[in-house]
Amino acid sequence: MCGIIGYIGKENPKNILIEGLKNLEYRGYDSAGIALKNENDIQIIKSVGKISNLEEKISSEKIIEANIGIAHTRWATHGEANEINAHPHQVGRVTLVHNGIIENADDLRKKLVKEGTTFKSQTDTEVACALINHYYKDDITTAITQALTEIKGSYAFGIVVENNPNLYAVRKDSQLIIGINDKELFIASDISAIINYTNKYILLEENEIATLTKEKYIITKDGKEIKKEIEETKMNAEAKDKCGYEHYMLKEIMEEPRVLEETLKPYLNNSELLPDLSTYEEIHIVACGSAMYAGMIGKTLLEEKANLKCYIECASEYRYKKIIYDRKTLVILISQSGETADTIAAMKKAKENNIDTLAIVNVKTSTIAREADKQLFIEAGPEIAVATTKAYILQVAVLALLSYKAAFSKKLIQEFDIEKELKALPKQLNSILEQQETYKALAKKIYNENNIFFIGRKIDYSICLEGSLKLKEVSYIHSEAYQAGELKHGTISLINDMTPVIAVVTDEEVKEKTISNIEEVKSRGAFMIVISTEEYKNCHENIVVPKINDFFQPILVVPVLQLLAYEVAKLRDCDIDKPKNLAKSVTVE
Ligand code: G6P
Repeated sequence: MCGIIGYIGKENPKNILIEGLKNLEYRGYDSAGIALKNENDIQIIKSVGKISNLEEKISSEKIIEANIGIAHTRWATHGEANEINAHPHQVGRVTLVHNGIIENADDLRKKLVKEGTTFKSQTDTEVACALINHYYKDDITTAITQALTEIKGSYAFGIVVENNPNLYAVRKDSQLIIGINDKELFIASDISAIINYTNKYILLEENEIATLTKEKYIITKDGKEIKKEIEETKMNAEAKDKCGYEHYMLKEIMEEPRVLEETLKPYLNNSELLPDLSTYEEIHIVACGSAMYAGMIGKTLLEEKANLKCYIECASEYRYKKIIYDRKTLVILISQSGETADTIAAMKKAKENNIDTLAIVNVKTSTIAREADKQLFIEAGPEIAVATTKAYILQVAVLALLSYKAAFSKKLIQEFDIEKELKALPKQLNSILEQQETYKALAKKIYNENNIFFIGRKIDYSICLEGSLKLKEVSYIHSEAYQAGELKHGTISLINDMTPVIAVVTDEEVKEKTISNIEEVKSRGAFMIVISTEEYKNCHENIVVPKINDFFQPILVVPVLQLLAYEVAKLRDCDIDKPKNLAKSVTVE
């Protein structure tokens, strides 16, 4: 998953491209590059590391006059993150940037080598570039079309060609849009890259080739011109501002009460808007990362509260697993970006088997939002920190609502009566977030540790999984979440004197059991932190959150763990918004 931006117009695009890359940096940031072009020349500059490194390098070079450019920020798949492997790649007359994975790159490379091509990099992208160049005689769109018949995998390409005044783009299984305003045209992985210049765009569909000239765009498929709808986003440039916060992660956590209110509003007294899951015999929840952990909370609620059979799987397994669809099944896909490659593949698998799909998604223009049978949108707005926070909370909120509705439909709840509780929730959440000083003080006690464990049972275990993931993502401390009763079957051997163990205790039914497990680890020397809905004295630190309706309880606990992870990462001087090796939108397998 990488970020692409391209420009054609009257300006020298250097600054526009750099700014766009910074907005796309959440997609990957191990190397970056830019190609600037005029009628005769192409200048390529690349650098390893963040966009700021590229910016510095560009400022020390003499830049050519240009009115076209393509740029790329990389999350390495084929070949390590070095300058040679960074995009743009150039072979013969063709220069391109690529997001995705060419699955048959090795075979294509062998074929091209036999025919005399030499390669500089280890990337699949250079192979695609060479293949297009190989077919390029006098019409580039014909060459692109021919090359695409041989390329297997996913791609979004931005292409410029020697002695050709246009910019070209094409995509399959990787998002690419054309941005439009009165003066210039853009290509971008998403609208956030170009939001300072336009909110109008066209979604490019599979294998449509976009030819952008200085004055207009032409979209063709199989040689025929296609008319496309121009879409408009409500996103504005301010939504991407840090608003005085030191990090996006903190800003986004603090936005949780507001976005929660916005997401819940339509359903407050209108349960009709929610799909009725009780009509299905089996629910499959499929997602990746935090979205999957949100799904685990949904699974627990659907099973425990609505008596619905629910199966959860990470999308990278689900897509390849033998799934027996022998009952009336609904597949719920959860994805903030709506572009996660494995989740898209899982959705396709369900559709191929004629199974209904429901997407819980933030980005309304995304592939999952457009292709699922039904959608429930969360109103998180742009989420920029790589580690998700507010989107996760909203995913949990929507799943809680769906479970509540299913329980109501099955007459396990007599009245659909949560308006008062849902109205109170944002304020209660705010009161949790206001206690930042408490989390800071606790962070000071644990930030130097090498291992931190989380324990909980049932829904509390699902909360622990997200707490542990957040901590390792942003602070790089090794952390594991365990079902509280399972710890003693091995992992308890890792508990030493003052090893921090964070226990979550909100589920009344298993509270006493978890407390026994707390005692077990405490007696082996653990530094015991308990997050509970009732005061618990027999530990080193206790954070008490208000007891609310079981369906929504996780929404008051996870933010404590998010802020704790944030404060720990800050004390360790980590790159909180862009943790190493991660990317926000994982658009490759
Ligand atoms: C990446 C991100 C996670 C996110 C996951 C799924 O791993 O770093 O924060 O939960 O992808 O992303 P999605 O956009 O599908 O929710």
